[in-house]
Amino acid sequence: MNKVLAWVDQRLPIIKPLEEHLTKYYAPKNFNFWYYFGSLAMLVLVIQIVSGIFLTMHYKPDAATAFASVEYIMREVPGGWFIRYMHSTGASAFFIVIYLHMFRGLIYGSYKTPRELIWIFGMFIYLALMAEAFMGYLLPWGQMSYWGAQVIVNLFGAIPGIGPDLAVWVRGDFVVSDATLNRFFALHVIAVPLALIGLILLHIMALHQVGSNNPDGVEIKKLKDENGNPVDGIPFHPYYTVKDVMGVAVFLIFFFAILFFAPEGGGYFIEHANFVPANPLQTPEHIAPVWYFTPFYTVLRAVPDPFLGVLAMGAAVVILFFLPWIDRNPIKSWRYRSKLHTFSILYFVAAFIWLGYLGIEPVTEFNSEMGLRLTEVYFAFFVVMWFSSKKRSAATSLIVFAVVMGLIVAWDLMRVGSLNPSMVWPALAVPGVYLVVTLLFPIFTNWDAEKEVPQRVTG
Ligand code: HEM
Repeated sequence: MNKVLAWVDQRLPIIKPLEEHLTKYYAPKNFNFWYYFGSLAMLVLVIQIVSGIFLTMHYKPDAATAFASVEYIMREVPGGWFIRYMHSTGASAFFIVIYLHMFRGLIYGSYKTPRELIWIFGMFIYLALMAEAFMGYLLPWGQMSYWGAQVIVNLFGAIPGIGPDLAVWVRGDFVVSDATLNRFFALHVIAVPLALIGLILLHIMALHQVGSNNPDGVEIKKLKDENGNPVDGIPFHPYYTVKDVMGVAVFLIFFFAILFFAPEGGGYFIEHANFVPANPLQTPEHIAPVWYFTPFYTVLRAVPDPFLGVLAMGAAVVILFFLPWIDRNPIKSWRYRSKLHTFSILYFVAAFIWLGYLGIEPVTEFNSEMGLRLTEVYFAFFVVMWFSSKKRSAATSLIVFAVVMGLIVAWDLMRVGSLNPSMVWPALAVPGVYLVVTLLFPIFTNWDAEKEVPQRVTG
């Protein structure tokens, strides 16, 4: 066997890249739970590609037959239901894994020098995933596929000047139609997956160029032993291959439990209205995107003007690209940053989850008000992060607080005439508490004190 391998290796680079990226790739020895999700994201990608290939064998990308072909897969094709649910549950699993993976980056500051490019490629992956999921959801040609796509493509129409033409160009028609279905199929099945694979390769190449971060934020390459290996590192194989296999086993237990017992996720993975064929003449009572888009959908709805809403929604995604430059504190991990930093991250995550919940719920006066307040928290998080990640005086803290709070209250004064004031003013507490704690508490508490970062990894 070794002779065969040696023969191939002389003609094809196999051993060297394997050593570089697996057996001799040194990773920090203190990886924890949060480091499962990169490999799990790769696993889910494989699940999506393999189940997608089998779906494509039976699916018909034609407005007249698409819905029926999916029903055919579910009822007639042997094991078809399993393949279809693997793909539809897999889409939600992908976003759960990716959100946890991004959360890890946020708490351990993995986006900071020298890992900015890993983060940027990650953000492009996130955008590509959103496009992939959005176009995939049109394919079963159910009511929510159709009307969801209609609403989202119409957003392009809100752009001044070019908007209406752009929306027609995206759809290939004046409404979502067979032409839209065909192009979304082409993009979903080949174009975006190719881009995704390319981006993931770049993501991993950038990661292996600079090495992994870790829960302590210690750069392990700085301290090497006599053989040139990092003293705080261990070879990826067998240590982390074994760890990742354990992660895969546990993940698959959860994944298959959902797939077998609640494949539609209670209407959150496949919405109930999508079991009704698309009907261009009948709008569903309540159109909501799938859960992974809903935080941004709430941001869109929080702004009354359609174009400004689209801008706010776009800005909510684009701002994440700039995280490496918004967070100016050289300490990476939240373990060694201040209590207020931890508070800020947890408040932001809670706001993001709540924004997501509101995007699924019908619009009521209370929900709209909360949607706006949480959108304010969402954007304030980045202002606070930029401002408080460098040392600042009490006076500047006060000024920043007054400016941000002033902008929020000015907007309230402009809109309160047409709204219920007993709703608007108490809800001001949602961004108010966040801003008071993060910007004013440092003036009279030591909650912004940071801990000393160790030289070596702990645990
Ligand atoms: C299909 C999607 C993705 C795949 C397959 C993937 C894969 C991976 C893998 C295998 C790692 C190394 C193992 C680990 O640290 O868990 C990693 C690290 C990382 N990823 Fe991703 N990733 C994806 C999406 C993203 C996204 C959307 C972001 C953020 C916007 C992101 C940001 C990062 C960062 C910052 C690291 C370095 C973490 C550290 O060293 O602490 N990734 N990724």
